[in-house]
Amino acid sequence: MTDKIIIFDTTLRDGEQSPGYSMNTVEKMHLASQLEKLRVDVLEAGFPSSSEGDFESVQMIAKKIKSIEVAALARASKEDIDAAWGAIKEAANPRIHIVIATSDIHLQHKLKLNRDQVVARAVEAVTYAKRFTGNIEFSAEDGSRTDRNFLCRIFEAAISAGATTVNLPDTVGYAIPGEFTDLIKYIKGNTPNIGKAILSVHCHNDLGLATANTLAGINAGARQVEVTVNGIGERAGNTSLEEVVMALHTRRNYLSYFTEINTKEIYPSSHLLAMITGIPVQPNKAIVGANAFAHEAGIHQDGVLKNKTTYEIMEPAIIGLETNRLVMGKHSGRHAFRDRLRELGYDLPESDINHLFKKFKELADKRKEIVDEDLEMLVAEEILRVQDTYKLKYLNVTSGTATVPTATVQMEIEGKDEQKAGFGIGPIDATFNTIAEMAGSPSKLLNFSIDSLTGGTDAQGSVTVRLEEDGVQTLGKGNDPDIIVASAKAYINGLNRLQHLKRNSRSKKTS
Ligand code: KIV
Ligand code: ZN
Repeated sequence: MTDKIIIFDTTLRDGEQSPGYSMNTVEKMHLASQLEKLRVDVLEAGFPSSSEGDFESVQMIAKKIKSIEVAALARASKEDIDAAWGAIKEAANPRIHIVIATSDIHLQHKLKLNRDQVVARAVEAVTYAKRFTGNIEFSAEDGSRTDRNFLCRIFEAAISAGATTVNLPDTVGYAIPGEFTDLIKYIKGNTPNIGKAILSVHCHNDLGLATANTLAGINAGARQVEVTVNGIGERAGNTSLEEVVMALHTRRNYLSYFTEINTKEIYPSSHLLAMITGIPVQPNKAIVGANAFAHEAGIHQDGVLKNKTTYEIMEPAIIGLETNRLVMGKHSGRHAFRDRLRELGYDLPESDINHLFKKFKELADKRKEIVDEDLEMLVAEEILRVQDTYKLKYLNVTSGTATVPTATVQMEIEGKDEQKAGFGIGPIDATFNTIAEMAGSPSKLLNFSIDSLTGGTDAQGSVTVRLEEDGVQTLGKGNDPDIIVASAKAYINGLNRLQHLKRNSRSKKTS
């Protein structure tokens, strides 16, 4: 059996469908390109039958990403498979991923089918998909709570019908590592044709065991693992890509497997995802959290100064975490600017570079030093958010001890410039009231926080808002040296995300 572990990334499907993580098509394309650089083996781009927006973004990714496999999810129905194939057929190496639930709980309460009917549907779906491609993955949803013998039966049937990968999901994050090992060994020992397919595992983190279960799966014979960057995903998330990859890499003396992942792209991928979604990585997150390589206790610092290996099991550089930050300023030239963007993972066309360089010069006139976060913010605001419904054009706010706080806002709304003035109990309230009125948005502001990207009073203010409309929640993020402008940008970003969510709301959901 080969020791290569296939990394199947589902950040853009299972990850993106979780609350707060929705992305527009431009953002998805950037992330897909980054995942290609990271060298995941399979990129699951989405669930095309769930919405038109999803179909389009999967199709665009399939056209662009050529060096790795692109997969699309489908339930076990002809309509879903047609949609999946329609979206990925132009990929260099397309994969159709078919899912049907197999546990008795799901059969009785969700599908209202008996086991024979589920096997028949699975076989029919795989057989149908085979007319389009030989690269078919079959997933038994809620596999870890499925009767073992039934799992073996349905995997055997799916493989006979043409599935080349069979995936065992721990859909609700219920499994315990030793139990998961036993289950996989059982499947391997009792599914007669299992040798004709790759066995895969897909874990969720409800009990905080997703990585442990995934490693248990590998040890028991799984050769594909389904993961997401930063472990994003339904509820408590999916198995985190960086944890599994770095566990295999760091402990290769014990776990003798390998992946093709370019580990130096781990941190840039994590960072890009956090920046696009506006959801920061928790500081103590393994591998990519801000504290993952920080040594606070005196005794630890002393040890690290004497020899890093005393308290460091990995070098930060191995995951692409640069400890020497490059600072740019108003004298930095266009070449240095473009090169730095490239190093940060943005290989942009000349037209984008020209536009960004102008914005960079404007910012450098206001600030002495420009750091990487500033550059990334420029990319986020000027390039990734091009599909926005609302764009801030102008903001003027008056406030103080002897005046009613007033905001005058100019916004481009679906291509048309509009202007309005409004009041509030403070400058930010006045700004938000005016923007909300212009956008006609009934959304509620649930949360508002201000942080600074760097030190000093000329630092970029970084504002995060959480908005809710009709039960849908999203985050908005904005950065600017002026915190009122940063607040306006964050609020508008949140409104744009709500718009996007409403347009592309997935009518059909799968975990
Ligand atoms: O968690 C799950 O069961 C899934 C399947 C679609 C693989 O995401
Ligand atoms: Zn899942």
